[in-house]
Amino acid sequence: MQHGSLPPAQKSDAAAEKAAADKPQQSLYGGVTSRRVTVRDLAAAKQRGERWPMLTAYDAPTAAVFDEAGIPVLLVGDSAGNCHLGYENTVPVTMDEMVMMSAAVVRGTKRAMIVADLPFGAYQESPAQALRNAVRLMKEAGVGAVKLEGGERSAAATELLVQAGVPVMAHLGLTPQSVHAFGGYPVQGRGDEAAHQLLRDAKTAQAAGAFAVVLEAVPAELATQVTSSVHIPTVGIGAGVGCDAQVLVWTDMAGMTGGRVPKFVKQYADLRATLGDAARAFSADVIGGSFPAAEHTFH
Ligand code: KIV
Repeated sequence: MQHGSLPPAQKSDAAAEKAAADKPQQSLYGGVTSRRVTVRDLAAAKQRGERWPMLTAYDAPTAAVFDEAGIPVLLVGDSAGNCHLGYENTVPVTMDEMVMMSAAVVRGTKRAMIVADLPFGAYQESPAQALRNAVRLMKEAGVGAVKLEGGERSAAATELLVQAGVPVMAHLGLTPQSVHAFGGYPVQGRGDEAAHQLLRDAKTAQAAGAFAVVLEAVPAELATQVTSSVHIPTVGIGAGVGCDAQVLVWTDMAGMTGGRVPKFVKQYADLRATLGDAARAFSADVIGGSFPAAEHTFH
C-alpha cells in the first residue's frame, strides 16, 4: 500500500500509535509501547528525576534475560575484553569483535537501547575514523548509540558523530582504555585541579552533543556536582548514589567474574558457584552412568 492511501479510521489508529511511540515514556519500562528505549526517553527520565539501571551484555541469551528483566539500557562494553574474551584488559578488543557481540545483543533484545563501545584505537586517530567505526556499529550490528572515552579530548569526534545522527554516550573519570597511562585503575577526580577538569570534560561532552555521560571511579561528591551541573543523565560506576543512573559489568553483578572485583561492585548472585555445581553434578552423573536416564533416551 502506498503512503497516504489508508482509509480514515486506519489513518487515525496509525497516527495515534505513532504519537504514542514518539512520546517519551512515562517511566522507562512502564510505557505502553513495545518500541526500544530512546535518547528522548532518557532525557525525559532525567527531567522526572527517575533513576535507571544499565548493565553490560556481550551475547544474545544474557542480553535477552536483562531485557526481559526490564533493564532499559544495555552496554556492549569493551569490558568484554577482560570479562568475556579472556584478554587482560580492554585494550586488545577489536572493531570486528565489537560488531559481532553488538549484533548478538541487538538480536537478543526487543526493548532496551543498545549502546556499543568504540574500542581502543577505533576513534582516537580522527573524527572521520570515529564516524567510520560508529557507522559500522549502527549499520552492521544495529546498535542505537555508541560510547567513547574522554571529554575535551574526544569533543571533535563526538560533535561529528552527533551531527551525522549517531547518539553518543561519553565516558569520564577512570577510562579503562588508558590503563597503561594511568598505571592501573586508580580513582580519578581527586583534588581541585582534577575535579575541575572532570567538570569541564562533562560540560564539553554535553556541549558536543553527548546524550549521557558515564562517570567511573570518581568521588561521590564530585559525581553529584557533575550530575546537577549538566542536563544530560550521568551514569555512575563507583561514583556514588548521586548519579542519574548506575551501571555494572554483568559478570561482576552476577558473580561470574573470577578473583577480586572492585570495591564499587555489589554482587547480586553467585553464578560462578551455581554453574560450577551444575558442571560437577553433570560430570558425576556421566561418570556414574546415571545420565542419560530413560527419560532422556530415544528408542
Ligand atoms: O566497558 C564497559 O563495560 C564500560 C562500563 C564499565 C561503563 O565502559
